[in-house]
Amino acid sequence: MCGIVGYIGDRDIKDVLLTGLKRLEYRGYDSAGLSVSDGEEIETKKSKGKISRLVQKVEDDDCEGKLGIAHTRWATHGEPSQRNAHPHEDFTGEISIVHNGIIENYQGLKKLLTDEGIEIKSDTDSELIAHLISKFYEDSLEEAVIRASKTLEGTFGLAVISSREDKIVAARRGSPLVVGVGDNEMLIASDVVPIMEITKEVNYIEDDQIAVVEQDDYYIRDIEGHDIPKDIEKIKWDAEEIEKKGYKHFMLKEIMEQPDTISDTLRGRLKDQKVKLSVETEEIPDRILINACGTSWYAALVGKYLIEKYTGIPVITEYASEYIYNYTPVNENDMFVVISQSGETADTLRALRKAKKFTDNTVGIVNVVGSTIAREVNSGIYLHAGPEIGVASTKAFTSQITALNLFALHLREMQGKYHDPNIINALQELPNKVKSILEKREEIKKIAEKFKDKKNFLYLGRGINYPVALEGALKLKEISYIHAEGYPAAEMKHGPIALIDEDMPVVFLATKGKILDKVISNMEEVKARDGVVIAVTDHSNPQVEEVADEYLRVPGALEEISPIVNVIPLQLLAYYIADINDRNVDKPRNLAKSVTVE
Ligand code: M6R
Repeated sequence: MCGIVGYIGDRDIKDVLLTGLKRLEYRGYDSAGLSVSDGEEIETKKSKGKISRLVQKVEDDDCEGKLGIAHTRWATHGEPSQRNAHPHEDFTGEISIVHNGIIENYQGLKKLLTDEGIEIKSDTDSELIAHLISKFYEDSLEEAVIRASKTLEGTFGLAVISSREDKIVAARRGSPLVVGVGDNEMLIASDVVPIMEITKEVNYIEDDQIAVVEQDDYYIRDIEGHDIPKDIEKIKWDAEEIEKKGYKHFMLKEIMEQPDTISDTLRGRLKDQKVKLSVETEEIPDRILINACGTSWYAALVGKYLIEKYTGIPVITEYASEYIYNYTPVNENDMFVVISQSGETADTLRALRKAKKFTDNTVGIVNVVGSTIAREVNSGIYLHAGPEIGVASTKAFTSQITALNLFALHLREMQGKYHDPNIINALQELPNKVKSILEKREEIKKIAEKFKDKKNFLYLGRGINYPVALEGALKLKEISYIHAEGYPAAEMKHGPIALIDEDMPVVFLATKGKILDKVISNMEEVKARDGVVIAVTDHSNPQVEEVADEYLRVPGALEEISPIVNVIPLQLLAYYIADINDRNVDKPRNLAKSVTVE
């Protein structure tokens, strides 16, 4: 997904911008570029593909100056190409802009500009913004950006420079932006990752606000020109945390971090057998609706199971992208929960904004502190899992389910009910259980070696482990490009059983639970059709290991926390199969870390 970084100060401008762009690579991109102003003119360089190509171009040229903006693009309007890469200059060459988001009145603007004789050089909606600002530009870039912002429909995070002014003007509507506050140097960026090595002091910009950033100071105004007080926060994440810590891939590093990240999610939230959360709800809701996308949606399914089991409150889970356009009623006595690692997923954000028209009771379960969703919910639970760089979500998923356990227990406490102290103990023991599985990763790698050439996999689980089957399949397909399907085990007989043969490995979640016997029957059905069974088992029923061709043994766990334990070997299985096949594990093709377009 697109990323922005801008700088004004005394450092080597090329170095700051290119380093920032490299830090943004984790978001996924197809082209990159930068513009530097020396106070007289703007020099722009861009290229399709990897940032290393841009580095070469920039090295061969002398882009010198004190201020500049840079961008990684993930195509929405127009193919990935150098022509469509950002920054885009206006027709005079005096202004340069970078843009994240989508302009919805693109067609109308294009007509307006071309009718005035302006030549449009790219296929992008973003280039039109540069011309529009130019049209409004007399002697104040800030004024021109404000006027353009009022004309634009859709979403934008914008950073704009002019060769006539020593400042960066940034504007936001629906696409995140943050000012990095340094000592006689300032930055602007779409998230904190590209700037945190220079400064940890940041000021988030809200929708319909404009930031005017100069070398020694900045100010923020709303689109009507009212001053907004500065609100500087300190980033707690360390730059070191975003390195790979010696692992081959971020994904493996993040899988291995889970004992710590689960502990961090629990930290300070369990005391005297009680749950302490900052969720501001006094009333028990009539119903709870949970919206999310991808892996976070699978966590939502686990959340439904837990909340209904602990509290009896009915829970409806929906893909955020579906809820936006369907007719699911939400009432004022309902609670609307969104789950998102990034806190920037466009579908989830839109779902939240729709739900806010009907209920004030919104809760976010979010990892990225200060993200848009985190700021727009009434109250929330941060995961505290640290930055997740690998495109495939791993540690965020286990932290989401940990947080959902806490949340479900919290709701039960609100109902005045006692809960089983075993669950609190089980949550506290969880990090060690996860650690013991990670220590056996070489065994999982051997199984990956055996199955690396298979073209299709089926993942089956039941009850609270059905979402784990979905997640295991998603992990495999997104990073290895091997086709994989997740299904409730009992549904196999209603169709997928036709696929079973010796070339279709079937991964079963077969750990302790009230329907384990039925899962074992499903395993027998697969074996009877020459299928190959890989079982995740806790040895609670030795029959699982007798029936299975291969098994991944996990420590026994209470049903409520079993998804967290059971998903670990599936993450590792997917990781090793993808790595053995030499896939781009951290940045799988066609995927972006944070999907900020609908
Ligand atoms: O940041 P979010 O949790 O809102 O992201 C939701 C999905 O885009 C994300 O989980 C996606 O499915 C990942 N690629 C899963 O590994």
